[in-house]
Amino acid sequence: MTKEFIIEKTIAFVKSKLEGDSSGHDWWHIYRVWNMSKKLQEKEGGDLFIIELSALLHDVADWKFNKTEMDGLEIIHNWLIQLELTNEIINKIINVIKNVSFKGAGVKDTMKTIEGKIVQDADRLDAIGAIGIARTFAFGGKFGNEMYNPEIKFELHQTFEQYKKSRGTTINHFYEKLLLLKDRMNTRSAKAIAEDRHRFMESFLKQFFDECESLK
Ligand code: ADP
Ligand code: NI
Repeated sequence: MTKEFIIEKTIAFVKSKLEGDSSGHDWWHIYRVWNMSKKLQEKEGGDLFIIELSALLHDVADWKFNKTEMDGLEIIHNWLIQLELTNEIINKIINVIKNVSFKGAGVKDTMKTIEGKIVQDADRLDAIGAIGIARTFAFGGKFGNEMYNPEIKFELHQTFEQYKKSRGTTINHFYEKLLLLKDRMNTRSAKAIAEDRHRFMESFLKQFFDECESLK
């Protein structure tokens, strides 16, 4: 199988898993992360094939959509094995996907490879800015969280367990994750793109609170 054919088959596989999702983890999220990863790779280096496959598969294993993270990783592992990839390549991809997620304000990132750092940055760029705002409200609605409740204060989660079980509001999610991402970008290229998207979220929040305040 050529690399192009493997990528094409993987696109079809990911579409079959995520197409039509309404929580912000649909195929078009994957498509943006895939394309952003390729853009970042042009400047930052790393193995393009590992980066592309990791970007395409990164949300198939998400703990939010599988019974456990392990189930998801097994699905990905099985997929990669039947593509007849070497163990070395498979392990590199699995390693990226295992470490990609944000796990709480106080939990350090553990990504070691440039391939992983690029995919993580691309995923995080899609979590901020106008797209990030839209995805966050879609997610909150889908999972039944309140949009905004001034009586509920945000929390800076110190463990993944706390972060995972948190049922805070969507506005709080900006303070618990989205506004922290700018300073957690791995690469210079991603940091530069994040600046503008971060400012846009700040101005959105300012407008949001100004509108609320004006009614007091
Ligand atoms: P990660 O890899 O860091 O888990 P994902 O690609 O899975 O990131 O996307 C996570 C996105 O889902 C967030 O950026 C946000 O838009 C949305 N999301 C996750 N948790 C919440 C939440 N509690 N409230 C609102 N949106 C959320
Ligand atoms: Ni993602």
